[in-house]
Amino acid sequence: MKQARIIGTGHYVPENVVKNADLEKLMDTNDAWIQERTGIKERRHIVPGGEDTTSTMGAKAARMAIQNAGIAVDDIDFIVFATLSPDYYFPGPGVMLQQQLGFREEIGALDVRNQCSGFIYSLSIADQFIKTGMYKTVLVVGSEVHSGGLDMTTRGRGVSVIFGDGAGAVVMQATEEQGRGVLSTHLHSEGQHAEELALIAPATTDWIPNYIERNDPEDIRYYPYMNGNFVFKNAVMRFQQVIGEALTANAYSADQIDMLIPHQANLRISQFIQKQMNLPDDRVFNNIQRYGNTTAASIPLALSEAVQEGKVKEGDLICLAAFGSGFTWASALIRW
Ligand code: COA
Repeated sequence: MKQARIIGTGHYVPENVVKNADLEKLMDTNDAWIQERTGIKERRHIVPGGEDTTSTMGAKAARMAIQNAGIAVDDIDFIVFATLSPDYYFPGPGVMLQQQLGFREEIGALDVRNQCSGFIYSLSIADQFIKTGMYKTVLVVGSEVHSGGLDMTTRGRGVSVIFGDGAGAVVMQATEEQGRGVLSTHLHSEGQHAEELALIAPATTDWIPNYIERNDPEDIRYYPYMNGNFVFKNAVMRFQQVIGEALTANAYSADQIDMLIPHQANLRISQFIQKQMNLPDDRVFNNIQRYGNTTAASIPLALSEAVQEGKVKEGDLICLAAFGSGFTWASALIRW
């Protein structure tokens, strides 16, 4: 059976840097609180009305991944695009990416809605298509524009200081080399906690005309809600479980991981997992300090930076893990 390898990585973040001190001007928060609780120093926000959108940022990350892979756009057979913040309610950004990258062929484009786990779910989908031989080369993109939808007042401070905008992408390709590339992926969900981290409206049960008619600025269902403590406790538990599951499935132990790239939810979550797994600092990659939580973009963005910095080398055992809204959680083990 064929294996799927990541042959190129890329990322893109908007130029506009929003420091914790900038948020102090908008809401009752402070740099010390944000850094102590989350590790975040700054994040990127798009400039409203500018050229950056979820799809255009995804396209920029994709172009870098395609260039680093040393292939042409038309070598790609299929697109998988993960986001919770699409340009439009529908269609999803996959088709926009197909248009923006200028494909000659009318290749398929799939949109994935799994929030913080979206990238690993997408990687898993690409892996299955490649393993079965249906596609040879698949582009996987994660991109998010959170900034426009956050409650940037004191009311929303528990959520809005955490999230940032950005994009990451990988090109995956079939290889005959066994034991190389994606070794396994592990996907989970627990829908009973759907409302613990969610953006409820607009919903098909309460559609836009009702919203316009009510015109109620206090209707917070139009902003993301997060039960922070509950999410935190579940995240640390599920991260450990799903990483353990990947290691067991491949008969590896934690000390054999060369680089753990956790979804960048909160630096304290990453540090907790690192401690539990007894991993040294140089085997865990974090960049949440500079970008905040970029949801589906966070893992490909971190992976791309890790590759660029020479921290991921050929033959390394790479572990990706994520937890987020749904709840959904996932892991992937990769022999680079
Ligand atoms: N600035 C200043 N104070 C803030 C604040 C902010 N941005 N946000 C909340 N606070 C206040 C709260 O109002 C609360 O005040 P009180 O004690 O007077 O009621 C206090 O800080 C503590 O709030 P709490 O929510 O208990 O803090 P916490 O230590 O749980 O940290 C999170 C909050 C959100 C950082 C933390 O729960 C977390 O990281 N959760 C998981 C996040 C996550 O991973 N999300 C994505 C999953 S993919």
